[in-house]
Amino acid sequence: MNDFIFQSPTRFVFGRGFVDRVGEEVRGLGARHALLVYGGGSAARSGALDRVRASLAAAGVNFDELGGVRPNPEVSLVREGIELARAQGVDLVFALGGGSVIDSSKAIAFGVPYQGDVWDFFCGKAKVGACLPVAVALTIPAAGSEGSPSCVISNDELQVKKGTSSDALRPRVAVMDPELTFGLPPYQTAAGVTDMICHVCERLFSNAGPVPVTDNVAHGIIRAIMGAARVVHGRPDDYDARATLMWAGSLAHNDLCGCGRGPAAGRRAGGWESHGLEHEISAHHPEVAHGAGLAVILPTWMRFAWRSNPQPFLSFARGVFGIEPDDDSDAARERAVLAGIDALEDFLAQLGMPRTLGELGLSPSDVDTWVRTLAQNKGPVFGEVRPLDMDDARAIYLSAF
Ligand code: NZQ
Ligand code: ZN
Repeated sequence: MNDFIFQSPTRFVFGRGFVDRVGEEVRGLGARHALLVYGGGSAARSGALDRVRASLAAAGVNFDELGGVRPNPEVSLVREGIELARAQGVDLVFALGGGSVIDSSKAIAFGVPYQGDVWDFFCGKAKVGACLPVAVALTIPAAGSEGSPSCVISNDELQVKKGTSSDALRPRVAVMDPELTFGLPPYQTAAGVTDMICHVCERLFSNAGPVPVTDNVAHGIIRAIMGAARVVHGRPDDYDARATLMWAGSLAHNDLCGCGRGPAAGRRAGGWESHGLEHEISAHHPEVAHGAGLAVILPTWMRFAWRSNPQPFLSFARGVFGIEPDDDSDAARERAVLAGIDALEDFLAQLGMPRTLGELGLSPSDVDTWVRTLAQNKGPVFGEVRPLDMDDARAIYLSAF
């Protein structure tokens, strides 16, 4: 087991109807004037927005609002939020939504005290230091941003999507009310399920290990996600299954599944190859849901990379799907690994996720553009299990069609 630091300081407030508690939670953080950030309409339609407004008002918290965050959120709205927050003297940013709203809120939170342009944090010119507190009411379990130190923002002008990370960005409070997710459409639910499974896999498929305690936790979380996803597919308002997905999404990305698998204490486990490859796709095609892109890229990358270190892939096949090699031969191990990858891809397809990039409306002629910006983002080589150069990346993209 490698050295690690595990820090998950977010206060998770989890339960039925708990969206009505956001006011007291925000008040408990000492905030007096929040910026309430939300997306394109689902929070208004579900009634969650009015409930948050009422709860903040009842707790005596003033607030201004910034709606209209789009999926794969864009930096221009973040800049607008920073101006608004400064003008109104905001002392907390409250995100009502999923990864896109939470990440926009995080960027506003560290952009407010900074003198320069907020994009500086994403292109390496500035490091997160001072930051307003962020609180969350989650409406879609997927990105795990409610407990993560990461923030991912797109810049349409530059045609890039970039992340920045700091423990200061872990939300102070995440209110988790599974009933808010009853109305999530099957496609969004499935994209979220894919993303959370991928967050576990990115950490599992690293060169450390085996790390029995972490690996068993990780496999168990994936099995729980799969079981709940199957239930929700037929019964979208099954409380326990929705609650399972909601909590699993947070545990998938708060670094629990990386303990002992990272290269050094304080460094995230895994090479994050699938996320690196997918982010170029959703940067250039914001209409592609991050999770849907991952549904194609993750199995394709697994088939490309597993031979460099079969152990975690064999362990995944066994721990998640109960697939054992028939005997001790290399051929039997290969069959087991590939059967595990096929099982994952089949499961995602049964939920309505694509198997090919063509199903997402993408074309092989897009690949050169993705490789060009991938090289800018990641350098000439990235990844861990099998370090990928840009020819490898091109080969993976092309075999995903
Ligand atoms: O905008 P509205 O109308 O709210 O609709 C949203 C949006 O269209 C909808 N939705 C959310 N809650 C709903 C709902 N629809 C019905 N009922 C509800 N209860 O879902 C759509 C997707 O929302 P979004 O926030 O984009 O989803 P997600 O949570 O998957 O976030 C994706 C973003 O997070 C980034 C991704 O790259 C992407 O930009 N990530 C952030 C990470 C982090 N900060 O740690 C890690 C991830 O790997 C990921 O990269
Ligand atoms: Zn993700």
